[in-house]
Amino acid sequence: MYANFVSSIDGIVALEAGTAPSGGIISGRNEADRFVMGLLRAFADAVLVGAGTVRAEGGKALWTPDYIFPAAAKAYADLRQALKREKTPRLVIVCGSDALDPSEPALEAGALVLTTAAPAKRLRAVLPKATEVRAVSDSDSIDVEDIFEAMRADGYRTILSEGGPQLFGELVSRDRVDELFLTVSPVLEGQSDQSFGMIRGVDFGRTPKRSRLLSVHRHESHLFLRYQLEH
Ligand SMILES: NC(=O)c1ccc[n+]([C@@H]2O[C@H](COP(=O)([O-])OP(=O)(O)OC[C@H]3O[C@@H](n4cnc5c(N)ncnc54)[C@H](OP(=O)(O)O)[C@@H]3O)[C@@H](O)[C@H]2O)c1
Repeated sequence: MYANFVSSIDGIVALEAGTAPSGGIISGRNEADRFVMGLLRAFADAVLVGAGTVRAEGGKALWTPDYIFPAAAKAYADLRQALKREKTPRLVIVCGSDALDPSEPALEAGALVLTTAAPAKRLRAVLPKATEVRAVSDSDSIDVEDIFEAMRADGYRTILSEGGPQLFGELVSRDRVDELFLTVSPVLEGQSDQSFGMIRGVDFGRTPKRSRLLSVHRHESHLFLRYQLEH
């Protein structure tokens, strides 16, 4: 599993309490960053997100390589073919409520929604037929291992996490993220209780999760960092 984020210089990835489409705002919809996002998606069997990230995009986004960087659509498709991947990566959404808009284009296109027993019934009744709703927990939330078990059962091995700070925090807590691709955008966002960094809801404090820097690239003032997380 590898994750992708874009952060401001001062470490902010999410704005307006996580309701804003923050990545595009922070990166300035930078062309090189969108190319890298497409490339990371092109490698994946599945793209994993939390429902918060889907809601924040405001019913516009698709989590496919060509949606984020159409100019490289052909190269991404060739790469997927060479890697023997399906035509597009499967979008997997983790959701503990029924707060998903049925008119989301990503749900119309087809996704796998992993949820808990009660919302599963309601979501099945309203979401487009192209989307599968699967109950993987009887409690209010889903254990990270159950998310992985569901993806394994469907044959997904190479997984890109584009989830926000809540889901990413859960994955890192369980040492489930192998690599992090981090774009540092040359902006300062400042901080309030409405904006936050890459991990929310977990505090590693004096025993931080450690990583090793694998590569650094620069495009104009944007930095592209690749880390391997130690487990
Ligand atoms: N800068 C970047 O690169 C970047 C990348 C990704 C996201 N973001 C930003 O991050 C913000 C969203 O943050 P977020 O932390 O809310 O995103 P998130 O982690 O993707 O979504 C959180 C939601 O996912 C569901 N969820 C997560 N873990 C769950 C579990 N174990 N069991 C059941 N449901 C679970 C819950 O949905 P329910 O509430 O429906 O139960 C939860 O509210 C947005 O502003 C987005 O733009 C930025």
